[in-house]
Amino acid sequence: MAERFRVVGGTALRGEVTVWGAKNSALKLMAAALLAVGRTRLTNVPAILDVTIMAELLRRLGCIVDYDAVAGVVEIEVPEQIGHRADYDLVRALRASTAVLGPLVARCGAADVAVPGGDAIGSRGLDLHAAGLAALGATVHVTHGFLVAEAPDGLHGAEIRLEFPSVGATENVLTAAVLATGTTRLENAAREPEIIDLADMLCSMGAHITGAGAGVIEIEGVDRLTPTRHAVVPDRIAAGTWAFAASATRGDIEVVGGRSAHLAAALDLVEASGATVTDTDRGFRVDSGGRRPRSFDVATLPYPGFPTDLQPFALACNAVAQGSAMITENLFEARFRTVQELNRLGAETRIDGHHVMVHGVERLSGAPVEASDIRAGAALVIAGLVAEGVTTVSGAQHIDRGYAGFAESLRGLGADVTREPDDDPFV
Ligand code: UD1
Repeated sequence: MAERFRVVGGTALRGEVTVWGAKNSALKLMAAALLAVGRTRLTNVPAILDVTIMAELLRRLGCIVDYDAVAGVVEIEVPEQIGHRADYDLVRALRASTAVLGPLVARCGAADVAVPGGDAIGSRGLDLHAAGLAALGATVHVTHGFLVAEAPDGLHGAEIRLEFPSVGATENVLTAAVLATGTTRLENAAREPEIIDLADMLCSMGAHITGAGAGVIEIEGVDRLTPTRHAVVPDRIAAGTWAFAASATRGDIEVVGGRSAHLAAALDLVEASGATVTDTDRGFRVDSGGRRPRSFDVATLPYPGFPTDLQPFALACNAVAQGSAMITENLFEARFRTVQELNRLGAETRIDGHHVMVHGVERLSGAPVEASDIRAGAALVIAGLVAEGVTTVSGAQHIDRGYAGFAESLRGLGADVTREPDDDPFV
């Protein structure tokens, strides 16, 4: 049964909230486990649907996967022989399924991975993934909706320069090159903390990688990798969500488990909005001093720039800020879906290409709105907190994909947020 969030506006969020391991790392680490025969154990794994889908994908490849969502532990038993096909039903449900591409070519000399369609945040190609694998010696083509990569004689090291520091392409080159013969040099690599987390896990499996987190990564291939134990890096996007939520609602939140060093660009803007950010023993704290936020301009960029995944929260915060701001989206073309829904709540915005002008209003006004993806959905719930009256956010399942127990976390911060059946007969 479809569900929606019901949000009663008017509460400043106060208290502490805990962030778990990053969704965008946990899924890739699960895929990377395929590289070693035996039992890999991941901890600090978030309790989200996407992990369940990745677990199913690994099972279909022949692995035994135990996922204890309450304890945050995933154990993956990888057999000697594994399959090499990722079906469309799974890739459609979880785009990050494409992270098995690199490990499968490296382990099996072949991978058939369904090509994901354009999703709700713009068309996201696989061309850089394909070019990276081709440089490592695979033949790559698309047939019947599958990207097929073959390297029957194994992969070899190469010099690769990504046209754009794609996160997914960097990960697939890394997970393929670790078992290639010779050395790979990857230039213009993505620098996200999740890339460092993946490289750390691969090194603990026996891989030789240097430079992860810098623009150039060097990988010296090894013959085999061994299973490992690894704790997932904390979720910087969830942590950033709470930082903007504190500013937007004029609240004061300690983000337990959050790492401010992974959020420098975002927290600079949270401070520009007038809030104070301080590191604590357990994470960091964002205190708005009870003041209305001031507006701030945003331009999304690859890490260490401002993350596109936090752009909807910056929008929600600016919607109730004093002044006007320009938000520029440089990574995904269709990531302004939040805007139309925010306007239903009374926000004053105007889209011009990949920019949005936002003129802050004192308060939004509660209304039914619709979540189109994880971040847009969570940002609309936060907008509901700064709206007069009741806001309902349909499409709760989108939010569940990225946030474990979002409503519970909000209630823990004093908000009046519940879930209810979404019984709209026309949807
Ligand atoms: C990952 C994150 C996502 C985040 C994004 C950027 C996961 C599961 N998802 O997505 O939440 O918003 O990083 O920080 O980790 N592109 C191409 N060709 C390619 C690859 C990418 O054109 O072969 C383009 C995409 O269309 C997009 C841009 O590059 O416009 C960024 O994509 P990329 O960095 O690869 O993001 P993802 O790994 O898909």
